[in-house]
Amino acid sequence: MGLRESLPEVICDIPGPQTRELLSRRDASVPRALCTTTYPVFVGRGDGAMIEDVDGNRLLDWIGGVGVLNIGYSHPEVVAAVRDQAGRYFHALFNIVGHEGYIELAERLAAKAPVRGEHKKAFFANSGAECDENAIKVARAATGRPNVICFSGAFHGRTNLTMALTAKKSYSLGMGPFPAGIYRAPYPYLYRAPEGLSEAEAISYYLGELERVLDEGTPADECACVLLEPIQGEGGFVPAPIAWVQAVRRLCDEHGILLVADEVQCGNCRSGRYFASEYWAEAGCAPDILTTAKSMGAGVPISAIVASADIMDHVPMGTIGGTYCGNPLACAAALAVMDVFEREHMEEVAARIGATFMARLQSLQAELPVIGDVRGLGAMCGVEFVCDPVTKEPATELAGRIIRGALRRGLLMESAGTASNVIRFLAPLVMTDAQLEAGLQIYEQSIREAVGLR
Ligand SMILES: Cc1ncc(COP(=O)(O)O)c(C=O)c1O
Repeated sequence: MGLRESLPEVICDIPGPQTRELLSRRDASVPRALCTTTYPVFVGRGDGAMIEDVDGNRLLDWIGGVGVLNIGYSHPEVVAAVRDQAGRYFHALFNIVGHEGYIELAERLAAKAPVRGEHKKAFFANSGAECDENAIKVARAATGRPNVICFSGAFHGRTNLTMALTAKKSYSLGMGPFPAGIYRAPYPYLYRAPEGLSEAEAISYYLGELERVLDEGTPADECACVLLEPIQGEGGFVPAPIAWVQAVRRLCDEHGILLVADEVQCGNCRSGRYFASEYWAEAGCAPDILTTAKSMGAGVPISAIVASADIMDHVPMGTIGGTYCGNPLACAAALAVMDVFEREHMEEVAARIGATFMARLQSLQAELPVIGDVRGLGAMCGVEFVCDPVTKEPATELAGRIIRGALRRGLLMESAGTASNVIRFLAPLVMTDAQLEAGLQIYEQSIREAVGLR
C-alpha cells in the first residue's frame, strides 16, 4: 500500500538507528534550544497525512507541522504548481519587479477574507509572526495610534514585537527589552472562568476586564487595535465565544479601534469555515484586518494580511514588503492550495472530521474524569486533561505520557496550553476514514494506558 493510504506501522523502536545517528549530528551542529527530545523523528518522506521516518516507521501525523498541512504532505497539485513555477522563474522582489501570481493571489484572498469593507486589498509576508507584525503596522498607520491590546494565552510568534504579544513567557525568556505599547487582557477561556459564573456572566466578566485595560492600561484614543485568535492555538485550543466577540466589536467601534483576527493557525478551512472569522461576520462582528499563514502554502513559506483599501492605503511607501515576501514559488503554491480547498470543499470535510473526533472524545470523557474538557470548532479540537474534574488542576505529566504512548504506536500529537495539559488535534484534512479511525484507537489506548486502565 502506498504511504498516502497506509496505516501507522512501527517497525522498530523510535528512535531507530538512522534517527539516532541524525539526533547525534543534530546535537553537535544545531543550538540546544532546537534539540527537543519529545519527538525523536526525522522525516524520510511525507504523503497525505502520513510520514515515513528515516528508519521506515510509518507515522500518522496529527500535528501537521502545527497546522501547516491541512491538505497534507506533498499534495500532487502543489508539487506540480511549484515545479512549473520553478521552471519559469524563482524570484521577483515585488517591491521592485511584479509578477502575476502575487496579483492573482491578492485578488482571490481579498475576495474570500471576511474582513469589513467593499474594496479589499492583500499583501504577503513569509511567516505567521511577520503577518502579525505587518497587521500592527497597518493598524498603526490607519489609526495614527501606537498601542495594541492582546490577550492571555495568546501566541503570535517569536520576533521581538510578537514575543511581546505572546503570553507564555517561556517563548521569550531573557530576550527583552520588548517594545512598549502592548497591553494584555484575559482571554475568555470559559472552562477556566471564575467559579460560579454562568456563560453569559463569564462573558460580561471578560468584557469588563477588557474595558479595565482601556481605563488603566492604554487610553482608548491611543489604542490602534485589539488583536486576537478566533480559536487560540498555543493557548489551549480555546474558541472565543461569539457573544464576547460581538461585544468586543462594539467596544472597538465606539472607540475607533481596529479589530484584528490572527488566523495563522485556525484559518484555511481548519475551523469548519474557510476562515474562522466567517463565524464572526455571520454574527455581525467581522474583523477589520485578518492575518493568515501556515496551511496557506502547505509548507511553502507564505503569509498574508487582508484589510479594506480604506485601511491599507494609509500605509506609507517603503514601510512594508521585503525580499521574499510574496515570492513567486510561494504564490504558486498558495494558489494551488486554494484551488484544492475550494474544489474539495475542505471546510466541510473539516466539520465532518471534527464532529467524529469530538463525539469519540466526548464519550471517553463521560467515562474518564481526567478528560476535563473537549472543545473546538471544525477540526481544530482540544482535549484538556486534569488531575481532578472539580479542582481542574492541569494534568501536564499525564498529557505528556499520552503523547509519548501515542508516538510509540505510530501517532504524532502535540500539547498546547499554558500548562501543556491540552492535546491538540490538527490532523491533515486529507486523512482517510481508516486513518482517522486508526488514530482514534491509538489515542484511546494511549489515554487508557496513561491512567493505568489497560
Ligand atoms: C495564532 C498564531 N499566530 C502566529 C504564529 C507564528 O507563526 P510563525 O511560527 O510562522 O511565525 C503562530 C504559530 O504557531 C500561531 O499559531
